Amino acid sequence: MSNTATLATLSGSDLAADPNWWRQAAVYQIYPRSFSDSNGDGLGDIKGITAKVPYLKDLGIDAVWLSPFYPSALADGGYDVDDYRDVDPKLGTLADFDEMSAALHAAGIKLIADIVPNHSSDRHVWFQEALASPRGSDARERYIFRDGKGEHGEIPPSDWESVFGGPAWERITEPDGTPGQWYMHIFAKEQPDLNWSNREIRDDFLKTLRFWSDRGVDGFRVDVAHALTKDLTEPLLSRLELGGTSDGADGFDDGSHPFWDRDEVHEIYVEWREVFNEYTPPRTAVAEAWVHASRRARYASPAGLGQAFNFDLLQADFAADEFREIITRNLAEATESGASSTWVFSNHDVVRHATRYGLPQGGGRHAKGQDGKGWLLAGAPAEDLDVELGLRRARAATLLMLALPGSAYLYQGEELGLQEVGDIPDAERQDPTFFRNKGVEIGRDGCRVPLPWATDGTSFGFGDGGAHLPQPAWFGRYAVTAQDGTEGSTLEFYRKALKLRRELQTSEELEWLETGHAGVLHFRRHGGWQSVTNFGHDAVELPAGEVLTSSGPLDGRLLPGNTTVWLR
Ligand code: GLC
Repeated sequence: MSNTATLATLSGSDLAADPNWWRQAAVYQIYPRSFSDSNGDGLGDIKGITAKVPYLKDLGIDAVWLSPFYPSALADGGYDVDDYRDVDPKLGTLADFDEMSAALHAAGIKLIADIVPNHSSDRHVWFQEALASPRGSDARERYIFRDGKGEHGEIPPSDWESVFGGPAWERITEPDGTPGQWYMHIFAKEQPDLNWSNREIRDDFLKTLRFWSDRGVDGFRVDVAHALTKDLTEPLLSRLELGGTSDGADGFDDGSHPFWDRDEVHEIYVEWREVFNEYTPPRTAVAEAWVHASRRARYASPAGLGQAFNFDLLQADFAADEFREIITRNLAEATESGASSTWVFSNHDVVRHATRYGLPQGGGRHAKGQDGKGWLLAGAPAEDLDVELGLRRARAATLLMLALPGSAYLYQGEELGLQEVGDIPDAERQDPTFFRNKGVEIGRDGCRVPLPWATDGTSFGFGDGGAHLPQPAWFGRYAVTAQDGTEGSTLEFYRKALKLRRELQTSEELEWLETGHAGVLHFRRHGGWQSVTNFGHDAVELPAGEVLTSSGPLDGRLLPGNTTVWLR
C-alpha cells in the first residue's frame, strides 16, 4: 500500500520553514506541572522546561506539545482554563513563555500549544459575570444555562451525565440568593461548556489563536474538538434515547448526537484554518476527537484542523493482526483526507503503555476502561502486572510506531520506560475522575507523577521542594541520570531510534512484506528502510539486511519475541 501525499524532509534547517514539518514529526508531550520544577514549589513550571531544552534536543524530537499552562485552579489538571491568553503565575510569566519558545526554536524544536475551547473554568471572568447576571442576559448566553424541571426547577434539564461521572448539569444560586438555573458541563462542574453558537465566543477564540501564533506558537492541539457545537432543541433527549450513554460519540456515525461530533463543528475549524493560514509557515492543528472511525477524517481535513489523533493502536492489544489492520486502515484514511496519520501509545489520559502491555492480554482492551468509559481508564492492578514484559513490548511497539509514516506523539517519561504509578494514596489523588466516580475509577494521576531526573535526592531531581503527586521509591531506577549514556537503556534506545528516523524518513509510503509468520509484521519504507516486529514469544529468523537498531537484544540472526528490529 502506498501513501503518496506530499514529501516532507524533516532534517536540518529546512524544518523551520517547511510548511509540511508536522506531517512526519515526532512530537513530545509535556505535562508542564509534572515535567521539571525550577523554583522548588513542587509544581513543574515554564523555566523548568527551558532548562531542559538541551535534553529535548538530545532526545531528537521535532516538536513539543505543551499541555495547558494557563491560569487554572487545577480542577482538571489545567484543562479548566481561567484565562486563555496568559500563563499560570504558578508556572511563570508570559516573558518566561517567550524565553522557552525562543530556546525551543533555537534548538530546532517546534511548539504546539494545547487549546481548550469546549469549556472554560468556572473562575473565568465570563462565568463569574454570568453568575452575577440575570437569566437571559448576554453574560449567560456565553454558556449553556437552562431552567430546571420540576415544580421549583429542582430537577436538572436532562439526565445527561458528565464524562467524569455524575450529572452534566449543576445548579447555581441566582444573584438574589434563590436557587436558580442549571448550566451544562460535559466534564467537571468547574468546567462550564461554552456556547459556540454565540459569535462572541467564536471571535474571542480567533483572537486567542492569533495571540499565541504571534508569540511564535507553531501549532495547536485542540482539546475535545468534537464537542463544541450542540443541538439543545427542547425537549432535550434522555439518556435512554441517546442509547443509554451520554459520554461518547463512538456509537454515533451520523452526527445525530446532540453534543458529540455534530457536522456544524467543522464550520468553526474552517474559520480557524483561515487564521492558521495567515502565518508562514501556516500554523498547524491536531484534533483530539474520540469519534466514530468513519468520521475522524473530517477533523483532519486540510480545510479544517489538518490532523486528528488516531487512538486505535493505543486501544489495541499487542497483537500482529490488530496492528496490521489498524495501520492499513489509517494510512488509507490519511491518503483520502490529505492529512498524515498520527500514532500514539501514551498520553496524560491513559495508563502508560509500558504498564498496559505488562497486563495479561486483553490489557489493551483494559485501556478502554472496564466499564466501557472510552478514554477514562481504570488503573492497572499491580498483582497482574509483568513489568519486564510490559517494557519489552512497549519498546517493540514504539520502534514499530517510529517507523510508520505520519507523526508520532510521545508522552513525557515514556522515553525512560516509566511505569504507571498504581498506588497513589486516595488522599493525594487529584483527578476529578476519581472524585466524581467515588473512587470506582482511580483516574489518571498515575501517569502524571513528576518525572525522575536523578536517582535520588528531593523528588528525584524534579525540583528542590518535593513533588505535587507522590513519587514511589522505584522511580529512581528510571531516572534520566541512571540511563544517560547507559548502553541498552530505554533513554538511549529512544535517542538512537529518533535520530535514525530523522535520517531515514522521506516519503510517506509503506509496503507490507510477507513473513510467513502470523505473529510477525514486516514492512518497508522508501529507501529500503524496514521494520520487523515479532509479536510472539518464540524467536524467528531475521530477514536479510543490515541491522540498524532493535528494541531489545537480538540473538545472532534471530529476532526474539516481543522485539522490533530496523533493517536496511
Ligand atoms: C481532554 C483532555 C483531558 C481533559 C478533558 C477535558 O480529553 O485530554 O485531560 O480532562 O479533555 O478538558
